[in-house]
Order: sequence, then C-alpha cells, then structure tokens
Amino acid sequence: MSSASPRDLAQADATQHNPGHQVLNETEPEGSRLEPSSEHSHRSTSPVIPLPEIPQPKLDLELDLSSIIGSSETKAEAIHVGGTDDFNVLFIGAGNIMFGSDEGPWNHSFRLEHKLGPRLKVVALIDPAIDRANAVLEKKRDSFVVSAYEATRVFKNLDDFVNNMSPKDKPRAVIVGSPPMFRGSLQPGRNIEVQILKHFPGVALFIEKPIATGARHEISDAFAIAKTISDSKTICSVGYMLRYLKAVQQMKQIIRENNLTVMSTIARYACAYVKISKPDWWDKSKSIFASAGPVVEQGTHFADLSRYFGGEVDVDTVQAHSVEWDENAGHLSHQSIDESAIPPENRIPRVTTATWKYDSGAVGTFTHIVALHDTNYSCEFEVYADGYQLKLVNPYVQPILYVRKPGDDIEQAFQFPDDDPFFSEVSNLIDIVEDIEEDSEAAQILSSYEDAVRTYELTWAIRDASERSRAAKQQANRKAAEAQKAA
Ligand SMILES: NC(=O)c1ccc[n+]([C@@H]2O[C@H](COP(=O)([O-])OP(=O)(O)OC[C@H]3O[C@@H](n4cnc5c(N)ncnc54)[C@H](O)[C@@H]3O)[C@@H](O)[C@H]2O)c1
Repeated sequence: MSSASPRDLAQADATQHNPGHQVLNETEPEGSRLEPSSEHSHRSTSPVIPLPEIPQPKLDLELDLSSIIGSSETKAEAIHVGGTDDFNVLFIGAGNIMFGSDEGPWNHSFRLEHKLGPRLKVVALIDPAIDRANAVLEKKRDSFVVSAYEATRVFKNLDDFVNNMSPKDKPRAVIVGSPPMFRGSLQPGRNIEVQILKHFPGVALFIEKPIATGARHEISDAFAIAKTISDSKTICSVGYMLRYLKAVQQMKQIIRENNLTVMSTIARYACAYVKISKPDWWDKSKSIFASAGPVVEQGTHFADLSRYFGGEVDVDTVQAHSVEWDENAGHLSHQSIDESAIPPENRIPRVTTATWKYDSGAVGTFTHIVALHDTNYSCEFEVYADGYQLKLVNPYVQPILYVRKPGDDIEQAFQFPDDDPFFSEVSNLIDIVEDIEEDSEAAQILSSYEDAVRTYELTWAIRDASERSRAAKQQANRKAAEAQKAA
C-alpha cells in the first residue's frame, strides 16, 4: 500500500475523477482557500463565502472529537488498523458509491484500502451487472492495491456466493451499495439485509442511504429489519456520512458544552441538475426502476442532519408544498434526460419545502431545490438556540461553520480543510468490528439502521405532505373553474 495519507489519496482520487471537486491542500495559502477560483470551482456560490474579508478567527473552543469520532479520525494521517490477519470484506454493488465516479468524492473501496492496507481482502463482489463488476476489478488489479482484489470473485447474487464459498471466504463486514430499491424490504429480491443476517449472523453491516425507496407502506418492513439487527446485536452503520464531519461534531460540541436547547433547524439543499443524467433519478414512481423522488433519495442527507440536531420529528405535523414540473416556476431549461419519456404523474418536483414540529417542541424547515446549472450544489444547514446561530455551509466539498454566539453580532468562521467524512464512517465501523478501542476515545457509529429508518420515514412524510397540498390546490382550482363556468 502507498504510504500516502487518505487525505492525499482522496485528493488525488477526487481530482482524477472530477477536477471540479477541489479538495483543499493544507499547504494552500490561507487567503486562497475560500475564494471561488473559477467558473468550474466546486465551491459554494453563497454570498457568505468570500472569507478573505473576514479575519480568520482564533478557534476559541478546543474541538474534542475523540469521544464521538474514534481517535484515529482526529488525525490527518492514515492509520491502518493494527494486526497482520486478513480482513475479509464482501461488497454488494459494483457502482459509483463503491468504486467512485466523476459525480463526487464517494468511493468506499478506496477508503477501505486505506483503513485496512494490505489486510483488506475483498472476497466477492455481488452485482447482477457482471461486466461492470469485472471491469472495476480489472482496474483494481492493475493498480497497487492488487492484493485486496486478486482473489475477488464475482457473483450475480448472494445465494450464488453462499453456495460457492469456502469457510475461509467468510466476511467480517458486508458493504451494501446496491440501489435502494433492492433493499430495506422483506420482499424476496429486495431483502438483502435479511439474507445477509441469515447467512452471516453476527457479521457487521454497512448499508448505504437511503435504506430503501419502496412504497411508503413498506416502512414497517424497514422497522422490522431494524429490530432484527438490533435484537441480534449486529454491528450496523448507515451511510449518512455528514454526521461524521468535524464541522457537524463541532456544532454538537457547542450545543453540549453550553447546555443549549435547539429551537429551530433550517436545511436547504439546492442541487445542480444539469449533470444528473440517471433517468431513475427523475422518476418518483414506486417502481423498482425509480428513485422515489429527490427528497427521499437525495435530500435525505439534510433531513437526517435535521433529525441529528432536532431529535425525533412528530411526522403527523409535517406540512409541505412543491413547485411541480408543469408549473411556470418549475420550468427547467437544461435537463440532460428526456423527461417526456417519464409519465407526467411520475415527474419530480423542482422544489419541495416543508416544516414540522420536533417532539422537543422545536421546529424544522427543509427545502430541496432542483434549479442550479453547472456543477456546484448549494447546501446550507442552520441550527438556532438561545443566543446561538450555527450555520454549516458547503458540507459536501469544503465545509465552513459560521458560529454566532452571545456577546457578539459577528459570526466566527471555522474551516475544516483536512476532513474526509467518508473515511471516518468506514474507519469507525472497522474499529468497532476489530474492537481495538476500549477507552473513552472509542469510535462510534453515528447512524444506526433504526435511526436511518426514521429519516426515511421523515422524507416520505415530506413527499406525501407536498403531494397532498398539490392535490388540494388542484381540486380547489377545478372547483373554481367549474364555478366560473356555471356563473
Ligand atoms: N452517501 C453518499 O454521498 C452517496 C453517494 C453516492 C451514492 N450513494 C448511495 O449508494 C447507493 C448506490 O448508488 P450508486 O451511485 O453506486 O449507484 P450505481 O447505479 O452507480 O450502482 C449500483 C450498482 O448496483 C448494482 N445492482 C443492482 N441491483 C443489485 C442487486 N440486487 N444486488 C447487487 N447489486 C445490484 C447495479 O448493477 C450497479 O452496478 C444508493 O443508495 C445511493 O443513494 C450514496
């Protein structure tokens, strides 16, 4: 394995795949860090960004991440888990989340290679798209991480692997990155968690978000899976990686240390749609070839952050409105797919905006927007408490945390140029499987399966509420038109 840090290689990886996703180097001059550098920059275009005008404040609070994120994550350099024994991993899905793409910095195989070094042995890759699976393996075998993949076998489904494996192939962790329509259900063919629990009891799971995209009535299936996972004490982590951001943990720390009660969360996720070219992303139908819509599939990260800070949501209080494809305000000029191929009733909203009450009495607001061109997404998340405003900007690419606190009208800005939440979530999982941390600095899983089901439930409540509002408005319009006709 290379001696480079995960940071170096994440940077190389992100740059190779997507020059627009600039991962900042620690040696970059301070003043240049936050200036949008070119039209292709991946940095937020938010007006609060040009920090050169803001003096970099001294961090007057010591960021203590160790109790929440394993101690190895607080260091910039890669730390391979100790030991010399092989660490068998089973991959489900040979797609972008597992092997990277030019859409973003995700790439679980890459993080595992760094966490485990030469100990990583990927025993099998399960994907019905055999050619795709073989192609990604071929690339790995041509690289310096060959030892992790030289014995990897490809299977169309889990049963084939189970029927052909030898005891030495038993995985210590299963990483599930198949599409959500094939997971989170008790229905055969979409119940991969149940199959894994049956064939490999006690083996740790990592499952990508969202936990499912099936019909809403199947949420009870997902809760049943959550119960099985928890009753069997299976280690399980779900891929809400934003929770592992140092900026997010600093927000938690400020709340904890100042005994704050969250009053309000405000989440805004504006995506750049031009390059989103998967037809299923644009199709909110409940078929297995669809995404269930952008709130359930994509905005879910911000619904999850909202819950992470606001606590449980009273889903009966969720109210929402949308701007739809057939409204004047919903016209998009630069779609890269042919939307006319999608039935009108399945086309996705351009904007969904929702409010709700948390069980704590706090309120949450959430807006998902499909409007921006080019490459940068514009995402911000705010938390308010008495005297405090915590504002997280650009969490995907270059998180900046703006903190306003009592005694000062001016926000302080904190940067986290060295952070890789994808690495942290994988690293924590492995540390827990290895049980190498026995003290208060132990790594933690920040998103359990049950917690992730609750986020899934919230996103469905938002979608349903917006569709109810639209139906009510359409009915009112029809009635008004009929009344006008009759007059
Ligand atoms: N956390 C993040 O930021 C992030 C980023 C990207 C993707 N994701 C999530 O990862 C998941 C996968 O997304 P992706 O972008 O890799 O999709 P993808 O389409 O690139 O890849 C999915 C792969 O799964 C395979 N597949 C289909 N059915 C399967 C089955 N039953 N068993 C095993 N494999 C199967 C497909 O053939 C394909 O190769 C989604 O849930 C997505 O939301 C998360």
